[in-house]
Amino acid sequence: MKHVSLIIAAAIAAILPAIKPATAQQAASSAGNVEHGNALYRAIGCYQCHGLAGQGALMTGPRVSRTELPLDTFLNQLRHPANQMPPYETAVVSDRDAADIYSYLKQIPTPPDPNSIPLLKVGR
Ligand code: HEC
Repeated sequence: MKHVSLIIAAAIAAILPAIKPATAQQAASSAGNVEHGNALYRAIGCYQCHGLAGQGALMTGPRVSRTELPLDTFLNQLRHPANQMPPYETAVVSDRDAADIYSYLKQIPTPPDPNSIPLLKVGR
């Protein structure tokens, strides 16, 4: 009896890792690869103007985390920037890479309410 349950446990342990990458890959193909998007966002310098957390800065570029732009508008901003942002052509960022960056930006979590951080409370 003990042997049987050990064999079952071993079989489950062997199968589990095989299942996980498949679901991760599925998520990546349907929604863009968040991890790759994060790496690109840093590697090609988006963070220099938009901040490491996509939070934006007054003088360099607006917030892009949790962007509400539709994907095609986002792509259009990369290819034909509205104003001062440098253009990123397909040779530099493919549509697929851009979709990964988009997915990365979309899922950046909302920062905590400043009032919930004791150090940031003024006058208390
Ligand atoms: C040199 C600074 C700079 C760099 C680098 C840069 N941006 Fe921008 N970005 C801007 C500025 C400034 C704007 C405001 C509109 C404009 O100037 O085109 C902007 C606007 C945007 C917007 C539109 C935001 C909105 O809600 O209207 C998106 C999305 C965006 N950038 C994404 C990116 C991504 C992704 C990258 C990297 C591939 C990137 N930017 C690199 C400066 C920059």
